[in-house]
Amino acid sequence: MASSGVHMHQVWRKLKTHASDVISNLHLAQLLQDEQRCTAFRATLNDLVYDYARQRATPETLSLLIEFADASELGAKIDRMFQGEKINLTEDRAVLHVALRAPRDPTIWPASVRLPEQAVSEVHDVLAQIERFSERIRKGREWVGATGKPLTDVVSIGIGGSYLGPEFVYEALRTDHKAAEAARGRRLRFLANVDPTDVHRALDGLNPETTLVVVVSKTFTTAETMLNARTLKRWLMDALGESAVAKHMVAVSTNTEAVKAFGIDPQEGMFRFWDWVGGRFSVCSAVGLVPLSLQYGFGIMREFLAGAHEIDWHFATERDWRKNIPVLMGLFGVWNASFLGYSTRALLPYAQALLRFAPHIQQVDMESNGKGVDIHGEALIDPTATGVVDFGEPGTNGQHSFYQLMHQGRVIPADFVGFRRSQTPIVLEGEPVSNHDELMSNFFAQPDALAIGKTREELVAEGVPEALLNHKIFPGNRPSSSMLFDCLDARTVGRLLALYEHRAAVEGFLWNLNSFDQWGVELGKVLAKRIRNELARRRQAEGKPAAGQAATDHHWNASTRFLLDAYFTPSTG
Ligand code: F6P
Repeated sequence: MASSGVHMHQVWRKLKTHASDVISNLHLAQLLQDEQRCTAFRATLNDLVYDYARQRATPETLSLLIEFADASELGAKIDRMFQGEKINLTEDRAVLHVALRAPRDPTIWPASVRLPEQAVSEVHDVLAQIERFSERIRKGREWVGATGKPLTDVVSIGIGGSYLGPEFVYEALRTDHKAAEAARGRRLRFLANVDPTDVHRALDGLNPETTLVVVVSKTFTTAETMLNARTLKRWLMDALGESAVAKHMVAVSTNTEAVKAFGIDPQEGMFRFWDWVGGRFSVCSAVGLVPLSLQYGFGIMREFLAGAHEIDWHFATERDWRKNIPVLMGLFGVWNASFLGYSTRALLPYAQALLRFAPHIQQVDMESNGKGVDIHGEALIDPTATGVVDFGEPGTNGQHSFYQLMHQGRVIPADFVGFRRSQTPIVLEGEPVSNHDELMSNFFAQPDALAIGKTREELVAEGVPEALLNHKIFPGNRPSSSMLFDCLDARTVGRLLALYEHRAAVEGFLWNLNSFDQWGVELGKVLAKRIRNELARRRQAEGKPAAGQAATDHHWNASTRFLLDAYFTPSTG
């Protein structure tokens, strides 16, 4: 074991002891009384305030976590990522999504985190291509549909990383005044699931004559995406003839040959990206930029990229970890999961427009860090405690759903995200506060309810009847962080995205695993292929004499065989 590995294990043990001997005896109600600690446990970046005073931690905890970050060589790992080293070892790839939003001039970066010039230059070439293309379509004159009509509607086909991020950004900006203005008269739909009902929903009310289909797939082999792409190709061709494909379908991919084989001309209708962009980290590539620029215009998307870059810069250059917000987020992520034993966490934006934020971050985190071995394929430092189950909903909706469990059931560390101003303010005459203030009252109240709770003594003093006392106790001591921004505009959407992308990277660096591969999704795909062949065989045999029906039965266990038989048995109900 390398000496840094030994050191890492030593600090790990210190943190374990600290958690069991010190932190387990402290309650957040007490810790929040300490003004000095509250003042120290916050970081700011322009209008962004990140307050972590409600983490179950003391200044000593933070010092130990920073010691752990250093023992894990966090700084060097961040440097290697930015420099374009192939840190995704199992796929022999660099991890350079930060290059997707970097300014063209690489010399702005300090040498230790300078991005590869070639990558940045190629990114800017594709950005220019997207800008030209989106303007031509949006103007409705230079690139029109097969019957001469402007292409006002877009269906973006893709799944996983080729869908969740773009949809999160689309929803987040849909009610931003400037973005909504720019999107006037346009529609953007997403088609992800291979469930034919998703096709039906995505196409509902659309006219092939005015629809552009963007097929988004890094590999251009993903079964769901390719079947959906063939389905929409058929929809277009049935309505407009075969030649319509050239005007009505474009592709975003790294696989030029497969795009060509599908029938899209790579010269005219393909936007490339690179193997150094992981699927779940691809929102800022053509994956997000093509559909989103068509909807909101390239200018808005430029602001989004600038927001993400602002966080990249802070992440790469702020080496006082106490001030580096994504690093703090990652440190507390690991602290809560590995040392306090909380295997779930909630992302709770107090903004309805962020309704698809948690599902996106769920993929970013769980596909990145849900791993069983370390970066070299060896046992993890703590095999029971990597990866966290992420979920979330906008507040206040979540309060009327799963918060009950968070207050009195299991402990689920939470991130609260709030805004000083609403995207769409409403002030009602006669109301004591604006509608946004009402929302934000909850943003401020919930973290304290979780942290401080309510004691039996307080309930007795309030005159609560004895029979209800136990039911009304709130144990408190439930950790959270609070993040406050000015408003949810394109720049802030970019900042939010980058903060959480980097949190996942920091956690992976600390756990010493590879956050950038995803071998765990392969087995299911292979088995589905075998089952698909079996379904095809059985469909072919349908209505024919039973000879050979069970020819492949030995492939399946008794349960799968039973379920397959049940699927093919007509219901009598
Ligand atoms: O779910 C596995 C996965 O490979 C994701 O990592 C990826 O984002 C998604 O499938 C879609 O892949 P592609 O963009 O190649 O279609």
